[in-house]
Amino acid sequence: MTGSAPDRIISARSSKTDGKGTVVLEASGVTKAYRRGWRHAPLRVLTDANLTLRTGEIVGLVGENGSGKSTFMKIIVGSLQRDGGEVTRQGSVGYCPQQPILYERLTCDEHFELFGRAYGLDPGMTERSRDDIYETLGFVKYRDTRVEELSGGTRAKLNLGLALVHDPDILLLDEPYAGFDWDTYLRFWDLTAERRDAGRSVLIISHFVNDEERFDRVVHLRDGKTTS
Ligand SMILES: Nc1ncnc2c1ncn2[C@@H]1O[C@H](COP(=O)(O)OP(=O)(O)O)[C@@H](O)[C@H]1O
Ligand SMILES: [Mg+2]
Repeated sequence: MTGSAPDRIISARSSKTDGKGTVVLEASGVTKAYRRGWRHAPLRVLTDANLTLRTGEIVGLVGENGSGKSTFMKIIVGSLQRDGGEVTRQGSVGYCPQQPILYERLTCDEHFELFGRAYGLDPGMTERSRDDIYETLGFVKYRDTRVEELSGGTRAKLNLGLALVHDPDILLLDEPYAGFDWDTYLRFWDLTAERRDAGRSVLIISHFVNDEERFDRVVHLRDGKTTS
């Protein structure tokens, strides 16, 4: 798919290398303003946002609250239209939104089944992947519990698990561990390192300064612009 319309994500057919590795995601010159009614000028959130993600990298996207991190990630995912710039991606994507998008009446198992089907996985693969995720994040005991009865922390685990179920090439996580306890937080980083070792790529939005050493690279977002 190619095109010049600003809302199009271009899916690259052939891999691109840039001297530092194979590029799986590239966003360049992304701009975005939110309209706020005729009384107010649009809120210019992104004026020049750039990001490159390569195979086997864990990259952090950091910035103050309200700096536009979630906006930028939604544009990268393709769930929000950008005003300008380009986004090119190669490979499958898993996205963990900052606000979990879950169905209150469905259980954890039912969520995995639903997402597995949506990703076109065969049932056996969904089950293996699901059981792995339950084990790693430690919430198998809630497999038959409806989301409406889950705590915020378990919802956050399910939200992350659903982004992982199809073993995506590119994992995009928007503050995924905000509700995690310490043990789960550490397991999360083990899981992320395993993905890197398997040649997958992970982009994580974080506002914890302490995490910076866990990333291979950090991209800062400030005043609508990124700096590396
Ligand atoms: N749908 C929207 N409509 C209008 N303004 C929005 C919308 N989403 C976010 N904003 C505003 O855009 C700015 C950036 O938001 P966001 O991308 O969520 O920042 P961050 O994730 O870095 O905290 C904030 O000032 C926020 O209030
Ligand atoms: Mg955010």
